[in-house]
Amino acid sequence: MRQASDSAAAQVVGNIPDTQSTDSGEILFRPFDTPENAVRQSPRLRRLRHPVFSWLGLRPVFAQHSRAEHGALLRWASGRRSVVEIGVAEGGSACALREAMSHDGVLYLIDPFHLSRIRLLNSLRRAAHSAVKGFGKSRVVWIEDFSRNAIRGWFGQIDLLFIDGDHAESAVLQDWADWSPFVAPNGVVLFHDARVFAGGWPDPSYGPVRAVSQLFREGGSTGWHIVEEVDSLVVVERKA
Ligand SMILES: C[S@@+](CC[C@H](N)C(=O)[O-])C[C@H]1O[C@@H](n2cnc3c(N)ncnc32)[C@H](O)[C@@H]1O
Repeated sequence: MRQASDSAAAQVVGNIPDTQSTDSGEILFRPFDTPENAVRQSPRLRRLRHPVFSWLGLRPVFAQHSRAEHGALLRWASGRRSVVEIGVAEGGSACALREAMSHDGVLYLIDPFHLSRIRLLNSLRRAAHSAVKGFGKSRVVWIEDFSRNAIRGWFGQIDLLFIDGDHAESAVLQDWADWSPFVAPNGVVLFHDARVFAGGWPDPSYGPVRAVSQLFREGGSTGWHIVEEVDSLVVVERKA
């Protein structure tokens, strides 16, 4: 659906700043998602916010992360073979992960896609499937469920884990407790919306900000250390 309509997308949305065009499609980075920013970038985007327009290829994928964060996802995913993302939405970050990871690896994408008003149509899920198809070559395993359910029966080792699902502090801590034991030595966990930065959107009350502070800034987790912080993204590595 998306690949057939890329030129249509360009015509519909016009020239938008902070959009990345690739051979596979277009991604629009944050900050786009306040009405003011959407209008500033393109008045037409305001009318095209619904994921059905991404699925139809009439606008770029709305990533919920910044361009700098996208770059960090690409760098940290590069060459990794077993990658897990919790919280997919339209698939902007999943596209980065699949693009950069090993082509013979496996990308596990976990999201219940439960917020669609028309469950049968579920255009968010369709938009995500359509976007991810266009990037990279690794095998993709979709797990349409909450992360707390997906962990049941999980046994594989993980090279990169991206936590961007339920943003309540307790949920982030639960994802960490459930999933981090499966991360390999020298493997990494990336937390999104987990850092306050100048001009950024998180504030100190954000669940991921509080969880990351508790786990890594106040000495909660041994055997792990922060290796990079980019905008709202915090990357921690398991020591070998
Ligand atoms: C912030 S968005 C993800 C954005 C995406 N990673 C990106 O950068 O473009 C959060 C997503 O997490 C999903 N979600 C919410 N609770 C979840 C849970 N417990 N497990 C997995 N996914 C969850 C929501 O359905 C939503 O699509």
